[in-house]
Amino acid sequence: MSSGLMRSAPGGEPSPYYLAPSENFSLYQGDCIELVSQLGQEEPFDLIFADPPYFLSNGGVTCKGGRMVSVHKGDWDRSRGADGNHEFNLAWLEACQQALSDNGTIMVSGTHHTIYSIGHAMQQLGFKILNALTWVKPNPPPNLSCRYFTHATETILWAARDKKAKHHFNYKEMKAENGGKQMKSVWTFSPPRKAEKRFGKHPTQKPLPLLERIIRAASDPGHRVLDPFNGSGTTGIAAIRHGRRYVGIDLNDAYLDLSVQRYEELVGDLPDERDLPLVANS
Ligand SMILES: C[S@@+](CC[C@H](N)C(=O)[O-])C[C@H]1O[C@@H](n2cnc3c(N)ncnc32)[C@H](O)[C@@H]1O
Repeated sequence: MSSGLMRSAPGGEPSPYYLAPSENFSLYQGDCIELVSQLGQEEPFDLIFADPPYFLSNGGVTCKGGRMVSVHKGDWDRSRGADGNHEFNLAWLEACQQALSDNGTIMVSGTHHTIYSIGHAMQQLGFKILNALTWVKPNPPPNLSCRYFTHATETILWAARDKKAKHHFNYKEMKAENGGKQMKSVWTFSPPRKAEKRFGKHPTQKPLPLLERIIRAASDPGHRVLDPFNGSGTTGIAAIRHGRRYVGIDLNDAYLDLSVQRYEELVGDLPDERDLPLVANS
């Protein structure tokens, strides 16, 4: 067990599951709807990235490596029905809104299964939607049924806390990254590479270069970044690589342990994850 590992104390302030010695990287185990409000009271967050359940684990199949496999990702991904899913989205988005700093923003990823509910919940709560980014996957898995176009994109909604917020955007950095031209809202990134999964796999792990761009676009070094659906900790690794402070929350301790391994390797000065090049925007 790592020296930075802690277990939650019953009652009172939430105790981190893991707190790095630098205190710049902390993980909490539990339901984000409860934890976000408590953690945001201490100090608000400048940027929140959320990759919530897509509610797809309902007995379907997909294609992986040319084979038909179950899409069951875990009980956390089971649908609660359209109304139940929307209530859940409203609840965690409201907690995040209250935990954002005045000019802070939130980015939420999803497919057509969830993104309309997320967008509607944002409108109901009075967020200001800034962009709908499209993440293009250059080599998506084929569609086995041959009855649909193969799914090759995800949407990332970017929103400010409210209509008056002067949201933070590193416009010049993004323009420079795009060869001196304004960066478009369509980004191409390949799925996570093997090196990003060497401590174990998370069924919905996001590519590190995608999270690095999000972190650099919408926060500055020293800013406090939250991911309420931490998973394998991709947001945290991107945040630390760019000098931000990170708080991650997940229900599942195995995913938190995976995140600790990724973090400890990063700060242990093993170069490979740090040296991952950004994939060019096309
Ligand atoms: C789509 S995955 C996130 C994957 C992550 N972006 C990554 O790169 O690894 C969603 C995660 O949210 C967690 N989760 C689901 N419901 C939750 C809740 N109510 N509170 C906290 N975590 C939750 C799941 O355990 C799962 O790891």
